Amino acid sequence: MANQTLEQIENRRTFAIISHPDAGKTTITEKLLLVGQVIQTAGAVKGKGNQAKAKSDWMEIEKQRGISVTTSAMQFPYNNCMVNLLDTPGHEDFSEDTYRTLTAVDSALMVIDATKGVEERTIKLMEVTRLRSTPILTFMNKLDRDIRDPLELLDEVEDILKIKCAPITWPIGSGKFFKGVYNLAGDYAIMYKSGQGSKIQDVVRIDGIDNPELIQTIGEDFHQQLKDELELVQGASNEFDPQEFLEGKLTPVFFGTALGNFGVDHMLDYLTTYAPAPQPRQTLEGEVKATDPEFSGFIFKIQANMDPKHRDRVAFMRIVSGKYTRGMKVTQHRIGKDITINDALTFLAGDRTNAEEAYAGDIIGIHNHGTIQIGDAFSTFKEPVKFTGIPNFAPELFKRIRLKDPLKMKQLLKGLIQLSEEGSVQVFRPLINNDLIVGAIGVLQFDVVVNRLKNEYNVEAIYEPVNVVTARWVDCDDAKKLEEFKRKCEGNLALDGAENLTYIAPNMVNLNLTQEKYPDIRFFSTREH
Ligand code: G4P
Repeated sequence: MANQTLEQIENRRTFAIISHPDAGKTTITEKLLLVGQVIQTAGAVKGKGNQAKAKSDWMEIEKQRGISVTTSAMQFPYNNCMVNLLDTPGHEDFSEDTYRTLTAVDSALMVIDATKGVEERTIKLMEVTRLRSTPILTFMNKLDRDIRDPLELLDEVEDILKIKCAPITWPIGSGKFFKGVYNLAGDYAIMYKSGQGSKIQDVVRIDGIDNPELIQTIGEDFHQQLKDELELVQGASNEFDPQEFLEGKLTPVFFGTALGNFGVDHMLDYLTTYAPAPQPRQTLEGEVKATDPEFSGFIFKIQANMDPKHRDRVAFMRIVSGKYTRGMKVTQHRIGKDITINDALTFLAGDRTNAEEAYAGDIIGIHNHGTIQIGDAFSTFKEPVKFTGIPNFAPELFKRIRLKDPLKMKQLLKGLIQLSEEGSVQVFRPLINNDLIVGAIGVLQFDVVVNRLKNEYNVEAIYEPVNVVTARWVDCDDAKKLEEFKRKCEGNLALDGAENLTYIAPNMVNLNLTQEKYPDIRFFSTREH
């Protein structure tokens, strides 16, 4: 591989933000775009008060700021690195997309509202990052408000999320008295100025804890308190260990305020210095390294294009190895077909442009006319390759969907199968009747489906309750036993959008009893694409 290509790959940092709704993900994203110089000024990106939250935060940024960001990936240069930030929809439209996006990153930033601490969605998302031991950085946000005791916050992260904390910076006060942070390893303070939320802050740095300038700036009382705290925290917490960070066992912690535009760059400095370059990905056939000379990648997300009239969808590919160049011929392994990619999109500095080239770690968008599915692998080599670990999760909510006009069954089925290919909902067809059951992880998905069926497929559908609470994909090595199971449990079996056999249970007791009764049948709560 050419040195220049190697260097480009080594410089890639691909990450996503995980957080509980309202912790500040959107605000931090905006500040990252500011320091990455994708946008020149930051402002309020959201409607106030009760205004409904946008379907995607990034779409909303786009709308309100009049800039061209895409809703899925964003690339910007920082500190001699090329940073790829992937959007994880985290609000009401929370879905499997979020999980799968996390399979496409090499590290993640966990944002915690420091007035609240560890919240439920964060716990769930951290579990997902654990599946691949993703390195995690932590940003304690909202220091301009009265936060909880910072030591207690670190304890909570360690206890609940089972990851060691290494504070890199330490807050000097909070709320009205937020003065800045002290960098523990570097032994210097960075002072905070309020009212600078929309532009890059001037950095006022004061070296050394006993520096008279620091005492003068924050006052003697604060200074003594800071000294006491630093002594305590240095005794009680972990030092940053790059290796443990890379193994996902320890997280560097930063304090700041996204709204006040303070501290986000401290985190980004660490991310570009210590977060891993593009990592290898597992395949059924072995491991593919980022620096392998041949190009390869997998699809982790499919998104309807902004223009619903052209049912044109973009498939987002994480490049796993090598380099993409425009006009490259690759094999799409699921269908064993060669295609030429002429018009892949890249997302540098917020512009959707047709890429001339892209490297391992980058995300490219490929126009999909219905032939690409989530999990599809592409490569310039011919030997079959299938990346593992891109899961479908068993839905948690179910509804029967019914047509207003029964003659449109074909369109309905087509729409549902295409929407399930995108991966945000799943569709189940029971073996014993003609029902269509929609399963989702988030409740908003149901509305999205009905709206999109109407707008994109011209089908009016309504929901009815259905007596299903959970689904499991089933499998068995013994064909005879599987047949018997199918016969006996036909009333609870369905096919999903990709024709996989699924057990749909009316309640958990039923599921447990069935599992006990058929010990040779395997029940999966996730299905790999
Ligand atoms: P999310 O994407 O994780 O849901 O969070 P988002 O950035 O939308 O932030 C949620 C709320 O928290 C917003 O207020 C936002 O302004 C506020 N916020 C984010 N960072 C900080 C911070 O550092 N300090 C303080 N004090 N607030 C912060 P909102 O009232 O919901 O929206 P808006 O009316 O301010 O637009």
